[in-house]
Amino acid sequence: DKGSYRHFMAKEIAEQPEVVGHTLARYIDMAAGRIRLPHGSDFDFSKLDRLAISACGTAYYAGLVARYWFEKFARLPVDIDIASEFRYREPPLVPGSLAILISQSGETADTLATLRHCKAQGMKIGAVVNVPTSTIAREADVVFPTVAGVEVGVASTKAFTCQLATLAALAIKAGRDRKVLSETDEAKLVSSLIELPRLMVEALHLESEIERLAPVFAKADDVLYLGRGTSFPIALEGALKLKEISYIHAEGYAAGELKHGPIALVDENVPVVVLAPFDPLFEKTASNMQEVAARGGKIVLLTDEEGAAHAGETLATIVLPKAFAFVSPLLYAVPIQLLAYHTAVFMGTDVDQPRNLAKSVTVE
Ligand code: F6R
Repeated sequence: DKGSYRHFMAKEIAEQPEVVGHTLARYIDMAAGRIRLPHGSDFDFSKLDRLAISACGTAYYAGLVARYWFEKFARLPVDIDIASEFRYREPPLVPGSLAILISQSGETADTLATLRHCKAQGMKIGAVVNVPTSTIAREADVVFPTVAGVEVGVASTKAFTCQLATLAALAIKAGRDRKVLSETDEAKLVSSLIELPRLMVEALHLESEIERLAPVFAKADDVLYLGRGTSFPIALEGALKLKEISYIHAEGYAAGELKHGPIALVDENVPVVVLAPFDPLFEKTASNMQEVAARGGKIVLLTDEEGAAHAGETLATIVLPKAFAFVSPLLYAVPIQLLAYHTAVFMGTDVDQPRNLAKSVTVE
C-alpha cells in the first residue's frame, strides 16, 4: 500500500528514519549505549585475519562503505568484490575466516553462488539480508538481519540504508572484539548512530529544494557524482539511482580521479553532484570542485553548514545537518535518492518499475 505517496519509492525513501531506527534497535543496547548483536546473530571478530565482503549493485556499495569502517574501527583487512566477479578472481580464501554477503532479497543468483563458493572453501558465512526466509539467509551460518520491511520499488532505497546501519554496528562490534575501540570510542560511535534517524528526518525536509533541481537534471545527457572516502560509494550509488529510474547516463567517481580522465566530459551541460561533508577530506574535494567550476560544470554541492561556508560558486548547495563523519554516508544517501526520484518523476518514467529491471535477479 502506497498510502498517500505517489510511488512506493517515495514512501520507502520517507520511511528511512523509522526503519533505520528499527534496524539499529536490533543491534544497539540503548540503555548501555553499546552494540549488542541480535539474539542468534552473535559473532566474535577477534580471531579473524581478513574479512571478505561480496554483493551486487546497491548492496555492493553498502559493502564498499563497510570496508572503510571495518578497516578503520577494527583494523580488519577487507577483500571486497562484486559477486559476479568474486569467484573468478580466485581470491585465496582462508578456511575459518568470514565472508559477509549482503542482499536485500536474499535470492540474488550471483551473491548466492559466491556464498556457496566461500562455503565450499571452508569459510564461515555471514549474511546481511532483509528477507529472513530467503535462500541466502537459510544457507548462511549467521544472519545479520536488516529490518527495512518489504521493499517494493525496484530501485533500492531503505534496504540500502538499513544495510549500512547493520554493517556499521558490525564494524563497531568488530572494533570492540579486536580491542581497537575503547569503551568510550564505542559509546561515541553508538551515540552518533542513535542520533541518525533524527538527522535523516531533517534531510528529508530538503525534498522541495532538491525537487527544484529536477528540470536541470532532466535536460542533462550525462551527470557526474563525486565523493571521497565513504562519500565515494555514495557517489556510485547516486549515479546508479539516477541511471536506473531516469535513464540518464551517470557515473560516480572518487573525486581524486576526476583529473585522470572524466574531467574531459565536463562542460556547461554536465551537472556534477559533489558529496562533501565538512570533514578532513573536504578541502581536497573542494579543490576538485573548483576544477569542475573552471570548465563551466554545473555544481550541485551536498554538504553541511560549514562546508557551504567554505564552498565557492555552485548552481545549488544543499545544506545537510551536521553529523559525525562516521554516519554521513547514511545521511547523504537521502538527498541522492530524492534527486533521482524527482528527476524521474519530472521526466515521467515508471519510477517503481523501471524498464529492463527486476526486483530480484535470480540468474547469473
Ligand atoms: C539498485 C538495486 C540493485 C540491487 C541488486 C542486489 O537499486 O536494487 O542493484 O541492489 O540487484 O539485489 P539484492 O540486494 O536483492 O541482492
